[in-house]
Amino acid sequence: MKAFDKQHILHPYAPSVPLADMEFVTSASGVYLELENGKKIIDGMSSWWSVIHGYNVPELNGAANKQLAKMSHVMFGGITHEPAINLAKTLLDISHQNLEHIFFSDSGSVSVEVALKMAYQYHSSQGDKQKSKILAFYKGYHGDTFGAMSVCDPVTGMHSAFEAVLHKNIFAQHPECRFDAVWDEKYIEDFQEKLDAHHHEIAAVIIEPIVQGAGGMRIYSPAFLKRVEELCKEYDVLLILDEIATGFGRTGKLFAYEHADVTPDIVCVGKALTGGYLSLAATLTSKKIIQGIEANGNVLMHGPTFMANPLACAIANASLELLLQSPWQTRVKNIETQLKTQLKQCESLAIVKEVRVLGAIGVVELHEATDLAFFTPAFVQQGVWVRPFLNLVYIMPPFIISESELKHLTSALYHVIQEFQIYKNFKDSSC
Ligand SMILES: Cc1ncc(COP(=O)(O)O)c(C=O)c1O
Repeated sequence: MKAFDKQHILHPYAPSVPLADMEFVTSASGVYLELENGKKIIDGMSSWWSVIHGYNVPELNGAANKQLAKMSHVMFGGITHEPAINLAKTLLDISHQNLEHIFFSDSGSVSVEVALKMAYQYHSSQGDKQKSKILAFYKGYHGDTFGAMSVCDPVTGMHSAFEAVLHKNIFAQHPECRFDAVWDEKYIEDFQEKLDAHHHEIAAVIIEPIVQGAGGMRIYSPAFLKRVEELCKEYDVLLILDEIATGFGRTGKLFAYEHADVTPDIVCVGKALTGGYLSLAATLTSKKIIQGIEANGNVLMHGPTFMANPLACAIANASLELLLQSPWQTRVKNIETQLKTQLKQCESLAIVKEVRVLGAIGVVELHEATDLAFFTPAFVQQGVWVRPFLNLVYIMPPFIISESELKHLTSALYHVIQEFQIYKNFKDSSC
């Protein structure tokens, strides 16, 4: 099987002939992934932010089985069903009161495409076709489809590979003000200048609230988000918040935008929505935006085949129920406290530039670029699954992780980074 994988199956951002062997996972339960040799390793990544309750969760398995016995899929054009209606009710209930409409899609990137379409159609339906650009941020990440790529960081994103075919958007300086830092207006100057110069052609601003994820794992001040929102209002530009990574408790609030007192026009959610069981995402928006789009008889032009898939919606309902009934705030707070204490020791390593923690997210930024060929086997050997990128070694474990499992994970981080430092020094001194 592994030979077939190597010859035929493409993996994310990887050459067709992989540089290293894939880990072969046979099953998963709790926070553990089981490998083919029977070894169990702790998943420090929650399978890219999504598996908040851990794997093989009885409540989610039960919801899936129950829904399978009724129908696993039905088209959403001209048809509706209970799992979608219940999920829409819950999501609109727990999110900002300004959000009254919801569009289901099948992945985070597609929910971003839908958000961009909403923003463009809102202005164009009212005759303003000039507002066709998006103001995005350096170090932002919003997905891999074309619209989403066009609002990702133009340097670390995939603009260089697709430049000729990407929509030309406008980029502002990334948020530099740290989460707890004292606010200074200088941090918003570049954004304000861009808005001032281009607002007549900008349909919306898109930003990941409080944590810029895959573009650099940067945690920033709620005051920055608040100023972004105020300026959007002042310049009549819509505000899209991408909660795909941060939503559902990860930062210590149910939605990261709750750290700041902001009213978004459009919000994207995905990843943890189904507890990591199936791919499902949603774009939430206000009555004002939908009425604006529908002025002159227009409708939002999107409709994926698997829109509001009943199986995924039923699992999402069970996942949200499980989350909301659990002591998730305490769990995330405890993870945060433990990460702050235990990752701090990484700061004693010369190769470590900075440690940052918010909620159930721990980031160790290095002075050197990481190297998967080094890190992957070293982490597996230590009994953990951690997948660094750029110069970032980061973890966002499932919320159900125990104190001792988290201790295992943070110790592994320290030891592997320490080994990397020795390996790098050895290499450097041998050059
Ligand atoms: C903030 C953010 N937006 C959008 C996406 C894209 O989501 P998906 O991979 O489900 O398309 C991601 C994925 O990592 C993300 O972190």
